[in-house]
Amino acid sequence: MTTSRTRVLLHPDFTVGAVDRRLFGSFVEHLGRAVYTGIHEPGHPTSDDHGFRRDVADLTRELGVTTVRYPGGNFVSNYRWEDAVGPVEQRKPFLDLAWRTVEPNLVGTDEFLQWAEREGIEPMMAVNLGTRGVEEAVALLEYCNGRAGTRWADLRIANGRAEPYGVKLWCLGNEMDGPWQIGHKDAHEYGKLARNAGAAMKLVDPSIELVVCGSSSMQMPTFGEWERTVLEYTYDLVDHISMHAYYEEVDGDRASFLGSGTAMNRFIERVVASADAVGAQRRSDKRITISFDEWNVWYLQTRFPGEENLPIQRDAPRIIEDVYSGLDAVVVGDLLVTLLNHADRVPVACLAQLVNVIAPIMTEPGGEAWRQPTFHPFATTARLAEGEALELRVSTSTITTKAHGEVPAVTAAATLSDGAVALFLTNRSAEPVEVELAHLGAALEVTEGWAMTADHEPAVVGPEHAEKVAAEHWGAFDVAGRVAAGDGGTTTRVTLLPESWTALSGTLTTH
Ligand code: AHR
Repeated sequence: MTTSRTRVLLHPDFTVGAVDRRLFGSFVEHLGRAVYTGIHEPGHPTSDDHGFRRDVADLTRELGVTTVRYPGGNFVSNYRWEDAVGPVEQRKPFLDLAWRTVEPNLVGTDEFLQWAEREGIEPMMAVNLGTRGVEEAVALLEYCNGRAGTRWADLRIANGRAEPYGVKLWCLGNEMDGPWQIGHKDAHEYGKLARNAGAAMKLVDPSIELVVCGSSSMQMPTFGEWERTVLEYTYDLVDHISMHAYYEEVDGDRASFLGSGTAMNRFIERVVASADAVGAQRRSDKRITISFDEWNVWYLQTRFPGEENLPIQRDAPRIIEDVYSGLDAVVVGDLLVTLLNHADRVPVACLAQLVNVIAPIMTEPGGEAWRQPTFHPFATTARLAEGEALELRVSTSTITTKAHGEVPAVTAAATLSDGAVALFLTNRSAEPVEVELAHLGAALEVTEGWAMTADHEPAVVGPEHAEKVAAEHWGAFDVAGRVAAGDGGTTTRVTLLPESWTALSGTLTTH
C-alpha cells in the first residue's frame, strides 16, 4: 500500500555542475588488513607477479573506484616514507603508533603507485605533517614527481622507476585537529605548517592540487573556527579542504541513521559557508572546493574499542572489519545522493576504506574476496552517474529524528550525459512512497532499475551474510512493475519500496 506522495521536478537545463570522476574515490591505509592480505598478498592463488591480489583488483575495478588515497589516515602522521622504498629485504619494520601495529614496510610508495597505475587508478598521496614537516613533504613529492638530476628523483630511478609518477592530488597531513593524531596541532600551528609545506611543494611541482585538513567531523569542538583559521593561512595556496564523516546506528535509532545524508548535507553546507566567508573577506574570486576524503558507515561508537585500547600487534591484525547490513547499504546509497547534489563543490570523495577495514570488499588470507552489501550502491552509482548533476526540486514529507530534527522522507539526485539519465532515490520511511517525476518540456524514458532494501537482521561475519543480503535485498527489477508514465507525457510515477535506495537509468531528452 502506498501511503505518501512525493514530487521530483527535473529538467535537462537545470544543472548543479559536472560530476568529477574523482567523486568515486576510496582509501587504502596501512591499517589492519587493508594493505597486507587486502590488496597485497604474495603467494595468494590469485596474486600477480608483484604480489598483489588479482581478485581484489578485479573487485576494485567492478566497484568503479577512480582514485585511491594512501598511505593514511592516522598512520601517515608517524610515517617515514623513505624507510619503505628501495630493496624490500633491506627495509626495517617500525611500530606504527596510530594503530599500534608493527608495520613491515613491505609495501611502500613505489609498490602502491605502481599498483594504482596498473589498475588505472589515480593516486592521492598524503604527507606526514604530524611528526615531520616541510623537508620530508618536499622530498616525497620530488621522489614521486621529480625528473632525473636531483637527490630524491635519482633515488626513485635507482629503485627501478625512471618515469615520474606525476601524482596530482596531495593531502597536507591528516585530521590534524584531532587530539588522537600523532603530532596533533592547534589551528594556528597547523595552518602555518600547511602553508609552508604546501608552498614549498608547489615550488617542486606547480601542477599539483593541495588538500588542507578541515575538521575530522562536524562534532569536533573546534569545527568552524578550525576551517576559518586554517584557510586564512592557506586560502591562496590550496585547492580543496578535507571533510571526514562516519555514520552509524546508535541505540537502535534507525530513523536518525537513515537520515545520515541530511547530516552530511548540513556538514557540506557549513564547510562551504566557512570557506566562502574567508574568501569573501579577502575579496577573492577563488572558490575552495571539498575533498570529502573519508566517508562511510562505521560503527565507531558501538563496535570500536578506541586506538588506545588496541594491543600492540603484528602480521596484519584484524582491526575495524565492520560487517555491513542491507540497512547500512541503503545509507551508503543515500550518502552518495548527497555527494552528487553537491557536485559543484565536492569534486573529490573517498569511501573509507577499500578492503577489509570498514570496506566494501572483504578477503580471507589465502582465500576468497567478496562484496559487502555497501558495494552495490557504490558500484551502481559510480557506473551510472556521469556528465552533469541535475538540480532537482524535491517536495516530500519529513520524518522527525532524534539526532537531526526534521529530515526529508525521500532524497533524490540525477545526472545527465548526452541524453542518458541516471536517477538515484532514497526512501527513508517505513512505507512505500509513490514519487511523481515531473519533467515538463522533456521526455523521460526509464529502461532499467536497481534497488537495495534495508534489513532488520544484525550483520554476522563472513561471505555468507553478504550473499544473503545480496540475494534478499539487492538486485535489478523490472521497471514495468514500478515505473509508469503519467498524464500527457510530462510525468512519470515510480514506486519506492520502504527503507530503500533505488537507481534508475534511461533517457531524458528535450522535445
Ligand atoms: O579510516 C579510519 C581512520 O579514520 C583514519 O585513519 C582516520 O583519518 C580517521 O579517523
